[in-house]
Amino acid sequence: MTSASIPPGVLLSDRARNLRGGEESPFLRMMRLASRFDSLINLGRGDPDLSTPPHIVEAAKAALDRGETKYTAPAGLPALREAIANDLRARHGLVYDPASEILVTDGTQEAIYLAIQCLVNPGDEVIIPDPCYANYEMSVAMAGGTLVRVPTRLEDDFELTAEAVEVAITPKTRLLALISPSNPTGAAILPATMAKIARLAARHELVVLSDELYEHVVYDGLKLISFPILPGMRDRTVLVNGVSKSHCMTGLRVGYVAAPAALARGMLEPRHTISICTGTVSQHAALAALTGPQDCLAENLAIYEKRRALITHGLRTGGVRFGAPRGAFFVFADIRPTGMTSMRFCEEILQAERVLIFPGHLYGPAGEGFVRISYLAAEDQLEEAAARIARFCRKPQS
Ligand SMILES: Cc1ncc(COP(=O)(O)O)c(C=O)c1O
Repeated sequence: MTSASIPPGVLLSDRARNLRGGEESPFLRMMRLASRFDSLINLGRGDPDLSTPPHIVEAAKAALDRGETKYTAPAGLPALREAIANDLRARHGLVYDPASEILVTDGTQEAIYLAIQCLVNPGDEVIIPDPCYANYEMSVAMAGGTLVRVPTRLEDDFELTAEAVEVAITPKTRLLALISPSNPTGAAILPATMAKIARLAARHELVVLSDELYEHVVYDGLKLISFPILPGMRDRTVLVNGVSKSHCMTGLRVGYVAAPAALARGMLEPRHTISICTGTVSQHAALAALTGPQDCLAENLAIYEKRRALITHGLRTGGVRFGAPRGAFFVFADIRPTGMTSMRFCEEILQAERVLIFPGHLYGPAGEGFVRISYLAAEDQLEEAAARIARFCRKPQS
C-alpha cells in the first residue's frame, strides 16, 4: 500500500481519532486566516511579549558554556526543586519536600497533562470551569475521563462559584480543576469562594488540580490564596505552576507539580516516560528565575496594568461589556449584541479591521458570544485596537 492510498486517519488509535473529529480547530483556523495579512494588530497571543530578564538569559548561556547538556533526574535538578519548595514556602507558607514532593515538568502544560493522566480513570468525571484553557479538555479526553463543564457568567465576572460546582458533582466526580487567574477570562477565584470550594472538595472527597500559573499577574492589589493552604487541602491537591508567564520565558518550557509524596511518587515514572526530563539548560534558567532578582514581577505588572487600563477604557467607551479582568492578560468581551457567533465575529473583524482576537467558544460552550482579547501589545496598538473593536461592534451587520 502506498501512503497515498491509506485513508486519512486510519492509522490513528480510536482515542486519537476521536479527539477532535478531524476538523481544523478554531485556533488554527484563525492563525491561518491571520497569516494572509502582512500587517495586523495581534491581540491573540498568550505569551508575554516582554523580554526575558537578562540574568535568566545569562544563566542559560552559562549552563551551555559549562556543558550542562545532559539529562537530569526525571524529577528535575535538586537545586531547582529546592528553589521551588523555598518559593512556595516563602510566598504561601506551603511546605513541600523538594526531594519527594516536587516534579519539574516541560511547562505547566505538561504538569497538567501528567496530573490528569495520573489521577483520572476512564469514566471518571472531571469538573472544569467553562470557559477554560483548552488544554484541559484534551488532557481529560486522553485519559478517557468525562469532562463536566461548570459555566461561569459575565454577571459574576466569570468567577467560578461554589454553588455551580456543587451542582456538577456526582458520585463519579474525581477531579476538580481550579484555574485562577483564568485564561481566557482574566477572572480570579476570590479567597472566600476558594474556602467554600475547599469545603465541597472535603465533603465529596475530590482531588483538586490547582493551576496557579498567573498568580504573579493580579491587579488592583488583590490578594489571592494558593488553594493547598486551605484546611485539609494540601493532601488532596496537585498544585501546578511554572515560570513561563511570570518571568517571560514561555519558550524555555519549565513548570512543576507540587503534590503530597504519594501522588508525586506515582507521577514520577509517567513523567520520565513522557520526556525523560525538562531541558537541562532551561532548568538552570528557571533556577535563576526563582533565585535571582524578582524586580521583573512588579515592573511587568505595572506595564500590564497600564495596558489593561487602555484596553478596558477603549472597550467601555465603545459600549462593549466584559468581565472585570482581575488577573492574567485577557479581557473576555461580550459580542452578543452584534448577533454574530464568536467565530464569525473574529473572522470578520480580522478581515475588516485587521485585529486578531480569538473566539470564546474555543474555550468552551459558555464562551460562545464572547471573544478573548489579550493585551500583550504596545500601548498605541491597544488604543487603536480598542477603537477598532468598538467601531466594529457598532457597525450594523448584514
Ligand atoms: C491556564 C494555563 N495553564 C497552563 C498553561 C501552559 O503554560 P506553560 O506550559 O507555558 O507553563 C497556560 C498557557 O497559556 C495557561 O494559560
